[in-house]
Amino acid sequence: MIRIKSHIKVIVFDVYGTLYNVHSVVKKCDELYPGKGKELSELWRRKQLEYSFLRQLMGTYEPFHKITKDALMFSCKALDLPFNEEKTHLLLDAYLHLTLFEEAEQVLSVLKDKQLAVFSNGSLDMLEPLIKESPLKRMDITMISVDEGKVFKPTSMAYQLVLKKLHVSREEVLFVSSNTWDIAGAKNFGFNTAWINREEKVFDHLDVSPDDEYSNLLCLLDEISDPF
Ligand code: LAC
Repeated sequence: MIRIKSHIKVIVFDVYGTLYNVHSVVKKCDELYPGKGKELSELWRRKQLEYSFLRQLMGTYEPFHKITKDALMFSCKALDLPFNEEKTHLLLDAYLHLTLFEEAEQVLSVLKDKQLAVFSNGSLDMLEPLIKESPLKRMDITMISVDEGKVFKPTSMAYQLVLKKLHVSREEVLFVSSNTWDIAGAKNFGFNTAWINREEKVFDHLDVSPDDEYSNLLCLLDEISDPF
């Protein structure tokens, strides 16, 4: 178990699924496609991640806002949901206004004396409105997007960007994510890792394990043993 002791200089949070609930778009999906919201949201997220992995493997990087739109188009077609520019705009706009998980503001407020950052596959044109529309806008949080390096998590090159931007060593980073593939990538790179497992999922079999597993972000506060 990692205790957030002096060797941890910065706490870095993943965004989608960790600080913000990607499935808060279900409401808008259901408004536009009654009874299909959950199915559309789940397929949309799955294809969004799949496209980021596939593009990384193919070497055809595109910013996450394009990947998110492409995944939405696929999902509507696959589910035989009629779409047009207006519906597409409304759904993509919902992605800029995702719900902050209820404990996130409290946890980051308590941790505000530490160096805090978010590190996301999301492009800045998605992250900036999302964070500026949420209580996190008042906090001193460094925003890092993989788009600067044109390489997606969970490749090691992506996590290298965190070291470059924050001027820390990998051992000084505590990386927090709800996405098992992201935790596996961060652990493989050498970060200290805390997996936020809200839905009692099984961790992926990738020959690495998180240093810690918590059911929500509040448990991180139990690990603050002393100030940096
Ligand atoms: C993020 C999601 C894709 O990088 O995990 O914020």
